[in-house]
Amino acid sequence: MQRIKYQAYIDKIQSPEKAALLIKNHHVLGVSGFTKAGDSKTVLPKVAERALHEELKLTVLSGASLGYDTDADLAKNGALYKRMPFQADPTLRKSINNHEVLYVDQHLGQTADMLQNIDTFKIDVAIIEALAITEEGYIIPTTSVGNSPIFAEMADKIIIEINGSFPKSLAGIHDIKLLKKQPNREIIPVLQSDTKIGDPYIKINPEKVVAIVFTEVPDSPAIISAPDEKTTAISGHILQFLDKEVAEGRLTESLLPLQAGIGKTANAILSGFKDSNFKNLTMYSEVLQDSTFELFDSGKLIFASASSITITESCAEKVFNDFDQYKDKLMLRPQNISNAAEVISRLGVIGINTAIEFDIYGNVNSTHISGTKMMNGIGGSGDFARNGYLSIFACPSISKEGKISHIVPMVSHTDHTEHDVDILVTEQGLADIRGLAPTERARLIIKNCVHPDYKDQLLDYFETAYALGGHTPHILQDTFSWHTQLKKHGTMKMNELASNHF
Ligand code: COA
Repeated sequence: MQRIKYQAYIDKIQSPEKAALLIKNHHVLGVSGFTKAGDSKTVLPKVAERALHEELKLTVLSGASLGYDTDADLAKNGALYKRMPFQADPTLRKSINNHEVLYVDQHLGQTADMLQNIDTFKIDVAIIEALAITEEGYIIPTTSVGNSPIFAEMADKIIIEINGSFPKSLAGIHDIKLLKKQPNREIIPVLQSDTKIGDPYIKINPEKVVAIVFTEVPDSPAIISAPDEKTTAISGHILQFLDKEVAEGRLTESLLPLQAGIGKTANAILSGFKDSNFKNLTMYSEVLQDSTFELFDSGKLIFASASSITITESCAEKVFNDFDQYKDKLMLRPQNISNAAEVISRLGVIGINTAIEFDIYGNVNSTHISGTKMMNGIGGSGDFARNGYLSIFACPSISKEGKISHIVPMVSHTDHTEHDVDILVTEQGLADIRGLAPTERARLIIKNCVHPDYKDQLLDYFETAYALGGHTPHILQDTFSWHTQLKKHGTMKMNELASNHF
């Protein structure tokens, strides 16, 4: 109750079960939550439960992935008609790939614009987690901002879920501004990672609020494996490359604001910066993982701007038990500002993202396993890769006991084209493909990034293609032969087969 400073909301307090009944079949929901942080912990799970015994087909828009089993339960119980713009849940992934749920995989920076500019998704109800309510009835978010401001603006009704598990000292870390619709879009005046341009709360029309519920459930913890030999080697190659950029005068020792993607590879890469020579680093990213707090603690990082804080249980314990020590060093923004092309380009962000696979010419697949099965989604990787100062993509050279090579003749799905990629790196080494023609890129990528087990095979492909001619040489009938070979025989290694194409 102490967290509500707007008296008129007191009458709206109700149980999550009752609030969940406000959701009707075919509704479009805009829900808070970004990479498991700041999502609905009680109302949305209760909506999923309802779908066990009644017909519910919902379109659910969020910031990014939701926590706990919310996405899994919504999918398993048949509550989802359509989901966007990102997910990272194995059960939902299966439903998407089985055609049970429609999925719109979207650049995370673009959902708000889409909602403002086309009428396709009229938001019926927004469900938003709050740290507290201001005297004006405005929402102070928790560990993410995501798309909540636009959902609250566009929704007919708003359900607020007040989460008492977060320290009140989170108030003040949010910087929220609703951008005007085209053709009146204004300049986004973020000149540095720490420029404040908005309010520390989401302004809403209090009359839209139909229910307030309480929860004490914390964010579901991120699960991140510790850096291993491969991810440490990848991190080492990136640091060495950046050292060289500094030595040759292209960057200073504070580099430019860093962005790091999701997953164990990106987290390990960023954690490597704590043993680097760089100083006074900043981040302009979308997710702050454990590595961000390691960098704060090591004194290397001075400020981080993002849209969410997604950390492991032990990191959360440390960070939220003494949040005051981090409070002035970070800021959470709506994702159309954390991922705004304009700001990323002005700040000159160094984007470091993870690939599922990349090809000899530098095209990157971030989303589809073997070209057809959705993994998670593009997330913000495209926002940063296309608009940043440097676009780095990393992944291991091989996986599954060497049966998969992550460098292939042609990517089986393209998320980032050769035109948006500057640096490719595996544990084998790094290829700086800036300013290189396709055939130069291919030779460098094969030399520096490919695992020894696949080097000859890929070189054979390239040289045969080269002999056929063309600016970007390919053997068209064999471009996906590595993927079809994997599907048929469980390995991309051609020399383990009698019917070798090359
Ligand atoms: N073929 C088949 N499977 C592959 C594969 C390939 N080429 N590449 C990856 N995989 C599988 C891995 O084997 C692993 O499966 P497992 O869990 O059964 O072992 C799984 O995909 C995840 O790969 P992992 O090596 O654990 O990588 P990760 O945790 O670093 O995540 C991405 C990598 C690409 C899936 C992840 O970074 C992602 O979703 N990126 C897109 C969104 C994004 O970049 N956002 C950035 C802004 S936040």
